[in-house]
Amino acid sequence: MNEDLIEKPEDESRRSFLVNLSLGLSYFSAAVAGIPVLAAIFAPLIEKTPKLWRKVGEVDSFQVGTTNLVTFENANPEKWSGTTASSAAWLRRDATDKFTAFAVNCTHLGCPVRWEADAHLFMCPCHGGVYYKDGSVAAGPPPKALVQYPVRINKKDIEIQTSPIPITNISA
Ligand code: FES
Repeated sequence: MNEDLIEKPEDESRRSFLVNLSLGLSYFSAAVAGIPVLAAIFAPLIEKTPKLWRKVGEVDSFQVGTTNLVTFENANPEKWSGTTASSAAWLRRDATDKFTAFAVNCTHLGCPVRWEADAHLFMCPCHGGVYYKDGSVAAGPPPKALVQYPVRINKKDIEIQTSPIPITNISA
């Protein structure tokens, strides 16, 4: 009888150790791989995105039917932000008491769009994205309409509700 084929107690101990090590590493890998998934699921519940109303001008400074570039301070600027704490929006006065504010950033890759008053279109200079007057996509690669900010009239001022960058956190 071949002595090598007989299982020894130390072989059983080694096998048990390797099985336990393999299971432990599998559990650890599964836990590490699951962290991003859990973070994505629970982030909206945990993250409190500050939304602030920012004044962008006085009501009387905008003519009915015009679309104007306005600037405001980001809702959550860092101390070191400097000029990058400023952001912009396209504000349209639709009627005496109705305003619409569009984010300047294209929904494709974020380039600032410009308002072409004669054509009544928003144009993106980066990849040819075009948006209709209401912000919906007219042509090009943008996957969705321009983001809109909530707008309110506060006494004689126009205010828009802003969120920190990234602007994708802004609810329309
Ligand atoms: S960033 Fe505007 S079309 Fe690409």
